[in-house]
Amino acid sequence: MLQKIEIPSHVDARPIPDRVVKRFESAKQRIEAFQDRWDRPQIEQFVAADYSHVFQSLDWTLETQMTIGRRFVEWGSGFAIVSAAAALLGLDVIGIESEDVLLQQGRITVDDWEVPVELVHGNFLPTGAESLADDPMLPSLGHPVENAYDSIGLDIDDFAIVYSYPWPGEDDFHEAVFNRYAARGALLMMFCGPNDIRLYRKT
Ligand SMILES: C[S@@+](CC[C@H](N)C(=O)[O-])C[C@H]1O[C@@H](n2cnc3c(N)ncnc32)[C@H](O)[C@@H]1O
Repeated sequence: MLQKIEIPSHVDARPIPDRVVKRFESAKQRIEAFQDRWDRPQIEQFVAADYSHVFQSLDWTLETQMTIGRRFVEWGSGFAIVSAAAALLGLDVIGIESEDVLLQQGRITVDDWEVPVELVHGNFLPTGAESLADDPMLPSLGHPVENAYDSIGLDIDDFAIVYSYPWPGEDDFHEAVFNRYAARGALLMMFCGPNDIRLYRKT
């Protein structure tokens, strides 16, 4: 079962260190330049989150909530901005991404920020998880890449915190996958849109 934890609205008043603000700003410019490129197909699955709000919510979570460990996984890491920010907050981070071109961008972020993040090419859905979806067209489904957990030698229940940015309409599916496979006590943070960051604990 998932228990909802309310993130207070004043979380957006939490200070963000200047060096982190600058990194978010330059990441935003890189993302815009990437999305404006006309000479390659658009990666429709990538949309940037509100990284400041995610950082503040994660910082608040680490300060106020019990965690079962320090391992953090970003499901679909894209430019790996959240992974890099989580590493700055002292977490042991793995980012999983199915798109090669995004994985390369994530590696640029990690090198640029000089943070110890492991980025893995693969599917964040464990084998069998697709059967939990009630709509075969959800964007998280059907990625023709290997299950990432085999290559990293860890399972979802080895992580204390999972972060995801579900496409509209697939938040229930991400919750169902987390509920089925995560460890008891683990946390799921989902960015579901501006001012809509959700936090759950598996009980
Ligand atoms: C909405 S974007 C969010 C990116 C990043 N988490 C962020 O907050 O900036 C979703 C990302 O998940 C990736 N993705 C979607 N389904 C996936 C899957 N089953 N396995 C691995 N990556 C996936 C997409 O390629 C995309 O980069």
